[in-house]
Amino acid sequence: MTTSGLAQSRPLPFRDFTKDAIGQLRIATDFNESADVIIHEGDCLEFLSTIPSGKIKMAITSPPYNLGKEYENKLDLDEYLQWQKKVIGECVRTLSDDGSICWEVGNYVENGRIIPLDILVYPIFNSLGLKLRNRIIWRFGHGLHASKRFSGRYETILWFTKTDDYTFNLDDVRVPSKYPDKRHFKGPKKGQLSCNPLGKNPTDVWEIPNVKSNHIEKTIHPCQFPVELVERLVLSLTDRGDWILDPFMGVGSAPIASLIHGRKAIGIELMHEYVEVALERIRKAEKGELLIRPMEREVFDPNGSAKKIPPKKVKIDMDTIQQTL
Ligand SMILES: C[S@@+](CC[C@H](N)C(=O)[O-])C[C@H]1O[C@@H](n2cnc3c(N)ncnc32)[C@H](O)[C@@H]1O
Repeated sequence: MTTSGLAQSRPLPFRDFTKDAIGQLRIATDFNESADVIIHEGDCLEFLSTIPSGKIKMAITSPPYNLGKEYENKLDLDEYLQWQKKVIGECVRTLSDDGSICWEVGNYVENGRIIPLDILVYPIFNSLGLKLRNRIIWRFGHGLHASKRFSGRYETILWFTKTDDYTFNLDDVRVPSKYPDKRHFKGPKKGQLSCNPLGKNPTDVWEIPNVKSNHIEKTIHPCQFPVELVERLVLSLTDRGDWILDPFMGVGSAPIASLIHGRKAIGIELMHEYVEVALERIRKAEKGELLIRPMEREVFDPNGSAKKIPPKKVKIDMDTIQQTL
């Protein structure tokens, strides 16, 4: 028995579907145009070659960092980068011309020496002609306490676009302004609101709690994405009905963030137990029972002055996804 309880149904934990199965989430294991979500258990490099070119609006992932974690084989650094180059190249091939690719990485550590992986992978994207739009700093509160250097509390997301003509829905991800009622005090706009009533640009520094033991989304995975981190990218860089890809899906945080906002998703994952958890989470979201930390919730404030918003139950936006067949 595994943690998810889905092991009994092996080797077919996926639901069969027909093209006409409206109202029921269509989960496929292989690339299938009629599916709502494709969850593939296996090696990403092999599976990526089956995805048609230009199909994907956004590839978002956090690859293994080559640290020798339970889900990776530690490689020589050059070998690791050669492998990453192949995966990145395949992801870029699948991107549409107005698409984006977001590569979320931290540090590779060797004998106490840190090597930020974004520095190492940037030349790969550059050589493929991609355009860097932001290097987003994801700042979080929890992690190891270092004794020979300052404790690391951020990772980065490199956001590249394929061309200059890309989707960017800023209004969908604005955050509350600090002084929403502030008005121009002189000039032709005197008395009018001086900030955007929809809120402000969230900037390229994002403070979002990472998923540690007391996080509502915590599963068996040692380094899963908080869903809200992916939600911001899904909402700003894609439109409803678009396909989103995570080649290193883990426990399915990227597919979940996509499906609840009416986008279709492809997730690829090597480890069976993570695929099972991903499917279990997707099924919960289908029933409207998956709890996530809301994007609107502020980070923990020891003074207690921040508004507390409880975890929310999310549901897959089936109507939108199935309208786009
Ligand atoms: C940093 S974790 C990603 C976690 C994910 N963002 C989430 O929210 O759960 C990297 C994942 O890549 C998976 N992985 C490693 N090599 C792989 C490969 N060749 N193909 C597909 N997945 C792989 C690992 O098992 C691991 O779950």
